[in-house]
Amino acid sequence: MFDLLITNATLPDGRTGMSIGARGGRIEAVEAGLTAEAGEVIDAGGLLVSPPFVDSHFHLDATLSLGMPRMNTSGTLLEGIALWGELKPLLTHEGLVERALRYCDLAVSRGLLAIRSHVDVSDPRLLTVEALLDVRERVKPYIDLQLVAFPQDGYFRAPGAAEALERALDMGVDVVGGIPHFERTMADGAASVEALCRIAADRGLRVDLHCDESDDPMSRHIETLAQQAVRFGLQGRVAGSHLTSMHSMDNYYVSKLMPLMAEADIQAIANPLINITLQGRHDSYPKRRGQTRVPELMAAGINVSFGHDCVMDPWYSLGSGDMLEVAHMALHVGQMTSREAIRSCFDAVTVNPAKALGLEGYGLEVGCKADMVLLQAQDTIEAIRLKANRLAVIKGGTVISRMPVVQADLSLPGRPTRVNPADYAPKGGQP
Ligand code: FE2
Repeated sequence: MFDLLITNATLPDGRTGMSIGARGGRIEAVEAGLTAEAGEVIDAGGLLVSPPFVDSHFHLDATLSLGMPRMNTSGTLLEGIALWGELKPLLTHEGLVERALRYCDLAVSRGLLAIRSHVDVSDPRLLTVEALLDVRERVKPYIDLQLVAFPQDGYFRAPGAAEALERALDMGVDVVGGIPHFERTMADGAASVEALCRIAADRGLRVDLHCDESDDPMSRHIETLAQQAVRFGLQGRVAGSHLTSMHSMDNYYVSKLMPLMAEADIQAIANPLINITLQGRHDSYPKRRGQTRVPELMAAGINVSFGHDCVMDPWYSLGSGDMLEVAHMALHVGQMTSREAIRSCFDAVTVNPAKALGLEGYGLEVGCKADMVLLQAQDTIEAIRLKANRLAVIKGGTVISRMPVVQADLSLPGRPTRVNPADYAPKGGQP
């Protein structure tokens, strides 16, 4: 007898009519047409069941702070950083925890059950670190929260940041962060990459740098990051977040860079919503998009994820914790419109970031954690197209969030009266 049995599900790989049985928090069976006794049975009705969404890049310390203490009027990255600097002295432990927990509630409702959040360690009081460690503990039963020690104002540039970063790691922060393009010089940036990779190697941790979040094609810290990853034996454990300068780089240089990134098994993380709004701000027309070279990186065998980065904070006033909205933007900006490319964008908010974060037991195979999302969509393409409703979110075999089916009842003369957006998937019917 299972704790939970889902029947008649479509899986992200396209298999239909599948049953998934869970017991003791793990998946024990994935079989076509399986019926069995279970504490709870969910008939998926042919809809998509996916492993949960994973956000590989977020800022939980800043989220939901929109308007505190004022709005970002220029909308630029640099005004966002300045505004965050104005807000930092006003932060309180209670306020940070309350906003982060409220965001995590929203995340759960969106089927987002793993988040890597950067946490600013520039303020030596480390109020943000204490608060997010508290949050990590409190959400543990339902969200895998991974924290990155992020020296927002520069590892070398901000006095005391290097020491604060080490203290944050001592306190239990999981990942080493950095921001080489924000250091005073290219040389300082490169030196910060080396220093941060050394710390990670010494402590046995992963690395995730805000890397080359710039339109400057000469911002090439990703090259140094790949080189240092190999040097310190950190292959597969180093992420380059943003990588927007790659959008503007010379093609010949990129043809040399990407094999180096592949050799270092760099985890590439694009943040489409933020990149498309913050990059290209110095351009008139044409305006660069700023998103890194997602399809080319994927074709080179590099693991690419999409992060949400910001929701209602000094850098971005929109967002709703919806990783399907993130994937939707990424595929538009990257012109990834083939069926295969759209499916790869679904992977970039599920299995790819799970690999980047090193999540244990992620997936829909027997033995994996029984964490799943039932979507009001017939397949992964429909899920992105509709930014589909999350009908059920399951953690450890227990439903922790439910939403009713979204449909409209129409009053039209001589027409069917019910519209369910998930009924519009192509079925090879009328030409
Ligand atoms: Fe970020």
